[in-house]
Amino acid sequence: MRTKIVAGNWKMNKTYQETKALVKELKHAVKEIELDNTRVVIAPTFVNLQKASKMTKNSVIEVAAQNMHQAASGAYTGEISAQMLKSIYVDTVILGHSERREYFGETDELLAEKVNAALDNDLEIIFCFGEVLEDRKQGNHFKVVESQIKHALFHLDSAAWSKIILAYEPVWAIGTGETATPEQAQEMHAFIRELVAGRYMSDVAEEVSILYGGSVKPSNAQEIFSKNDVDGGLIGGAALKVEDFSAIIAAI
Ligand code: PGA
Repeated sequence: MRTKIVAGNWKMNKTYQETKALVKELKHAVKEIELDNTRVVIAPTFVNLQKASKMTKNSVIEVAAQNMHQAASGAYTGEISAQMLKSIYVDTVILGHSERREYFGETDELLAEKVNAALDNDLEIIFCFGEVLEDRKQGNHFKVVESQIKHALFHLDSAAWSKIILAYEPVWAIGTGETATPEQAQEMHAFIRELVAGRYMSDVAEEVSILYGGSVKPSNAQEIFSKNDVDGGLIGGAALKVEDFSAIIAAI
């Protein structure tokens, strides 16, 4: 059975004090939820990772980073390496988020390097990809997603896939309030699973968790999560409010 995952991407939100308060509230809230084969992950900013990781040590909540640099160390002012994340007991990193691609020029080639660096350091990866509105309007969404996945991940051997979580995030649905319909999500997730099955053995495709991201909220989470190939969500805005995030977790 595939693991279900609800992950909160906090983006550039929450100070140190606010992070402490939200983690504390969330720890209480998740205790009330019956988690059946479901992982709960939060991704605060770099400066708050260590505190969040310490605070969640005895809780089911896991902590992930939102990004990392591809080099092991060196003259890269302002950057953070995979090894640094591991050293503060962070075991998961989000890579390829559309905001990183759009505002920081991250390409599939660069992401392939980051993927390698993360895996070299035994980090698990939540790998994000998805089409922009124009691609969907022109009917290119499958092609775009296929290319993003192939270029950043298909050089890996099948063993490496135990460390990969996929997150389909149509860019037009991120932070816009507009969500892909459950049917659109299912259609794309099934396509992705087939793509992975075509490149690897079918058990790799069957076992990889594929999350949906883009304006998931308590009111639409259950319907999206009910689809066969949707194994959870990557949540932005709604992950910043404990009531909303816990309602989304409960929906799974
Ligand atoms: P959103 O963000 O839920 O605010 O649309 C999702 C994401 O960017 O991961």
